[in-house]
Amino acid sequence: MQLWQGRFTKEVDSRVNDFNSSIRFDQRMAAEDITGSMAHAAMLTGQGILSEEDGAAIQEGLAGILADLQSGALAIDPAAEDIHTFVESELTKRIGDAGKRLHTGRSRNDQVAVDLRLWLRQAAGDLNEKMAALCDALLKQAAAHAADVMPGYTHLQRAQPVTFGHHLLAYVQMLLRDMDRLADWKKRMNYSPLGCGALAGTTHPIDRAATAAALGFAGPCENSLDGVSDRDYCIELAADIATCMMHLSRLSEEIILWCSWEFRFIELDDAFTTGSSIMPQKKNPDVNELIRGKTGRVYGDLTTLLVMMKGLPLAYNKDMQEDKEAIFDAVDTLSLCLTTLAPLIDTMKVLPDNLRAAASKGFINATDCADYLAKKGMPFRDAYKLTGQLVALCIKGGLTLDTLPLAQYKAMSGLFEEDIYAAIDLGACCALRKSLGGPAPESVAAQLESAKARLEGLRTF
Ligand code: ARG
Repeated sequence: MQLWQGRFTKEVDSRVNDFNSSIRFDQRMAAEDITGSMAHAAMLTGQGILSEEDGAAIQEGLAGILADLQSGALAIDPAAEDIHTFVESELTKRIGDAGKRLHTGRSRNDQVAVDLRLWLRQAAGDLNEKMAALCDALLKQAAAHAADVMPGYTHLQRAQPVTFGHHLLAYVQMLLRDMDRLADWKKRMNYSPLGCGALAGTTHPIDRAATAAALGFAGPCENSLDGVSDRDYCIELAADIATCMMHLSRLSEEIILWCSWEFRFIELDDAFTTGSSIMPQKKNPDVNELIRGKTGRVYGDLTTLLVMMKGLPLAYNKDMQEDKEAIFDAVDTLSLCLTTLAPLIDTMKVLPDNLRAAASKGFINATDCADYLAKKGMPFRDAYKLTGQLVALCIKGGLTLDTLPLAQYKAMSGLFEEDIYAAIDLGACCALRKSLGGPAPESVAAQLESAKARLEGLRTF
């Protein structure tokens, strides 16, 4: 049964009913719909628009519906047009005419907008908590491996020495910004569309500030057309989620590389890997591959929302019903990925000997050799060229800069002394990179402390 009978002379075709219905996915907002209705009814009563008796009957009826939905005593009718219709019909079934007065001064257009904002605000808070849990796992591993030297890469070619802790802390920084983006999103989205009506407000003497405050919003949306017809808060949240997914996907790509036999930098816990149906030796990083794969799907959700909105005249258009599946999918996907990735990181075993072995190949101390010469007065560009020639010499002789004899160094430049070996020692190369944000132990320790402090500040959403 629709809420909008009256002017129609025929039943709606059942195919249109099915096509039009959103109950399949908007039933997730049942609790928010009821909370929004309670605030609306309380305000109507306070303003004398509803009688005290009707107001009390509505509050009691709505509370009963919520309790019955939560206990399972009441099942959502899949034939209802949407969650708003279902709740209102159920209320009228339970309390009679008072139920029919609930919708005074309100439209489903402001109702759905308020429900969605309430739902997303809660969901973003949950995501924030899960991002914090992932930061905790990364910080734990970073602290444990703050001094374990590994090759840092550019172009996936060994470049300069870093430590495993330093590398993981880069991801913590990304996640802290992801959390900060959610907090920033909340500042803009936390305004109430309730009372915007269908598009043009209402002639009833409603109090929008009261409903906004009751629902935890910072205030009411200032323009009724805007309040019911923008979905920029869905787009912005989807973009924030897509950005976080991109970060998780890059981390996952590295984990996939690191646990391959080619790298062997880490070993994933058995509980977080899967096997092959035919190859008995396999231990696959399926979780990380799925995260990488699902990132594309979330980008799709963002695109869906952007394209859905771009041609819509003000105010409400039914196209906008498509917002929920896209943004729910983005939220659900990130939530699942975070839930699985945090314990995977927490339980992974880092293999420091292999990190160091990889760092000692690939000439990642070549820059330090050039710097050694530059510090002794040679112009850096000349030092760079000479070191390049030394590297070529090593490659030819099957040597590294650490094993090249001093005589051969001296033959290239009289500036080389015995202390070249200390200057290009891997540990020293790392320890000397004390510049702010660098891989030296004291620098990594400072980054750890500052990241922990920022995380504490971001935990409360
Ligand atoms: N299910 C609708 C949606 O999600 C609710 C709003 C309906 N409003 C309307 N004018 N038909 O957008």
